[in-house]
Amino acid sequence: MREEARAGRQEPHAARRALEERRAELSLEPAYLTRERRLRDVQALRRAADVPFFRHGDEILDLGEAHVASALLPDPPASNTESVLERQRGPTQPRGMRIERHRAGAVARLQAAGAAAAATLRLVGARLREGMSTADIDGMVREHTAQQGARPSQLGYHGFPATVCTSVNDVVCHGVPGPTTVLAAGDIIAVDVTSELDGYHGDTCTTFFVGQPSAEARHVVETARRCRQAGIDEVRDGARLGDIGAAVEALAQAEGCHVVREVGGHGIGRRMHMPPHVPHFGRRGSGRRLRSGMAITIEPIVTLGGPGLIEDADGWTLRSADGALAAQFEHTVLVTRRGCDVLTL
Ligand code: MF3
Ligand code: CO
Ligand code: CO
Repeated sequence: MREEARAGRQEPHAARRALEERRAELSLEPAYLTRERRLRDVQALRRAADVPFFRHGDEILDLGEAHVASALLPDPPASNTESVLERQRGPTQPRGMRIERHRAGAVARLQAAGAAAAATLRLVGARLREGMSTADIDGMVREHTAQQGARPSQLGYHGFPATVCTSVNDVVCHGVPGPTTVLAAGDIIAVDVTSELDGYHGDTCTTFFVGQPSAEARHVVETARRCRQAGIDEVRDGARLGDIGAAVEALAQAEGCHVVREVGGHGIGRRMHMPPHVPHFGRRGSGRRLRSGMAITIEPIVTLGGPGLIEDADGWTLRSADGALAAQFEHTVLVTRRGCDVLTL
């Protein structure tokens, strides 16, 4: 299945361009970044002064893409020690990578942006119905975000063609909304809303049930929600990123679920994706230390299957290779002395 994803690698660009042309009204971003900023061909930008990079195996990554640390990279050779270490520790992050600590003024803006994103996600949750398309959800998010004087951060981000990610059933993340994806009773759908308000971003995701869920659907969704909480419970000044990852992974495993490793949380502030990358697996006591004033997201994706992802021809939608149900929950949190403040409640 990995092979399939790789074989399709040339195609997505053409497919995405076609999609972008069809949905030209959505691609209004002046800073429209297109495919050059995608992981797989970021090399070309290596000399651009404003784009920070870090190494991941043999690849140079754009930090803006730290969220998808390795989803689109070829598999590392299995026998290579470095890659084994990397799988245990998550993507390499140079020790000196600066993680911003927000002061009072910035914190107020982060709070407002978080509240805006949360309000939009609540509205979607209240209106979701069987028979609705994911394009309808995109419309709601666009309208409600604008009503709050905010901007949908995801629209045009590295060329993403919509205001929101809508990930149905076996879609792990980055589902692109469209009129032909219609919700049916028994579906689960992760809706990931990111809003920019007054120069700061808030990022949050909930997986909703459409109609009555199956026992499996209930299990994967509740496990993902509890995994997010297990991660949040680790956050405080002095805690390490590995503490979050270890707690999330342990709970998922105890519940017989798989945690997706290719996508992680991230720092957040004046950009949607900032250092650090926040893996949802790892070793307690490892990784960078959190300090009060840092803002990060915790956004575990949990599946009922095994590892392996497939990318759709749209160049965005990532599915579980085995077709297993996937669920995701995300909050933006601010690290404090004693714990953290959840900004997207
Ligand atoms: N909101 C997503 C996250 O949690 C970002 C998706 S990037 C997009 O980090 F381009 F796919 F929208
Ligand atoms: Co996020
Ligand atoms: Co998000």
